[in-house]
Amino acid sequence: MSTRSVKIGISGRPSEYEIKIGPGLLGGSGTWARKCLGKGAAKIVVVSNPTVFKLYGEQVTSSLQAAGFAVSQFLIKDGEVHKNFRTAESALKVFSEAKLSRTDAVVALGGGVVGDLAGFAGAIYLRGITFLQMPTTLLSMIDSSVGGKTGVNSAFGKNLIGSFHQPSGVLIDTATLATLPKREVTAGLCEAIKQGAISGKPLLDQTGDLLTLYGNEKDSALISNLGFQIPLRDLIAAQIAFKAQIVTGDERESSTRLDGKSRKILNFGHTLAHALEKVTDYKYFKHGEAVGYGILFAAELSKSLALLDEKSVNLLYDVVHRAGTLPALGNIDPQEVFEAFKFDKKYLSGSLQMVLLKGIGKPVIRTDISPAPIKAALKKLLRKWA
Ligand SMILES: NC(=O)c1ccc[n+]([C@@H]2O[C@H](COP(=O)([O-])OP(=O)(O)OC[C@H]3O[C@@H](n4cnc5c(N)ncnc54)[C@H](O)[C@@H]3O)[C@@H](O)[C@H]2O)c1
Ligand SMILES: [Zn+2]
Repeated sequence: MSTRSVKIGISGRPSEYEIKIGPGLLGGSGTWARKCLGKGAAKIVVVSNPTVFKLYGEQVTSSLQAAGFAVSQFLIKDGEVHKNFRTAESALKVFSEAKLSRTDAVVALGGGVVGDLAGFAGAIYLRGITFLQMPTTLLSMIDSSVGGKTGVNSAFGKNLIGSFHQPSGVLIDTATLATLPKREVTAGLCEAIKQGAISGKPLLDQTGDLLTLYGNEKDSALISNLGFQIPLRDLIAAQIAFKAQIVTGDERESSTRLDGKSRKILNFGHTLAHALEKVTDYKYFKHGEAVGYGILFAAELSKSLALLDEKSVNLLYDVVHRAGTLPALGNIDPQEVFEAFKFDKKYLSGSLQMVLLKGIGKPVIRTDISPAPIKAALKKLLRKWA
């Protein structure tokens, strides 16, 4: 099966890099890395976690070795709580012990946690060394591995400490999704719906078509089938092309830009998502699952402000429903969620900055929404979903 490729060029940067997408690509990861890094690179540290490394580490390591690299590894413990300074410092120690030079490279093999941490450590080691990504979750394939944001969580908040550090290449082996737990697939699909909603009908429909193929059973064996891998590969490529188009136009998310092509529009669905995660202590929802609800909240609010029609709201309910079972909202207290909005990064001088829709594919950033419609939209979602 042929491979899809998306080229990313950041404006004002001399070099562009390529994202390759298709099943089975990890088998050729050594040759690919050699092409990305050139003849001068000698050493690679693979950053991963025990779950992913057990599944794919040996394959990647032997392929890299066959391409002439000296390979060592740094495995971080599995989970968001380990995306912190202490882990980044341990990574730097391993890079230093491996004597990585600027012409060598760090490879992230795993989901967004591994990618964000490896990218951040790579950004500060020797003031930035070459970095390659091999994302293995749907979320990291369509979202976190594109755009160059890297970072760690800290006492100051989630993802507030970090760096923009673009990779020199991204290799996406879509066959790895067959081992991904079902809830993680659903979480990634919700992020795909989010991007579809702000991109337009073609991407939203393409995402919906994949959901139809995925069906109700959501059998992971289905993911390995060629009949699924082809549309999956094409959807991932289309999702990346959309995200790339936004981030290349606003690489550093300019704080003054509030237009429909600002990088901020990627936060669609994230205001409620962050609040839901906060009130449940980051333990109850997968981030993407919370985004699923966030999309519907933003849609309800958009409708109540006469921006979005009923048909579009129903369409979004339908696709989010079909992405998989989301954790129940039964125990969520709307007042507590409302209070949690104030902790949002986008809560500036007393008002929420929210991405709404004035149609599918027509995001608008609003900073003037009063509490009443926000509370009403939240109650409506809780009532309608239950
Ligand atoms: N940098 C960005 O622009 C950006 C954007 C969105 C999210 N993020 C970050 O991404 C992180 C979330 O990423 P995630 O959703 O990929 O979570 P994750 O990295 O925690 O991975 C989810 C789980 O899946 C397991 N896993 C990964 N690949 C697997 C595979 N192929 N088979 C079996 N198990 C596998 C992992 O071990 C983990 O337990 C968050 O920290 C978030 O802040 C960053
Ligand atoms: Zn997200």
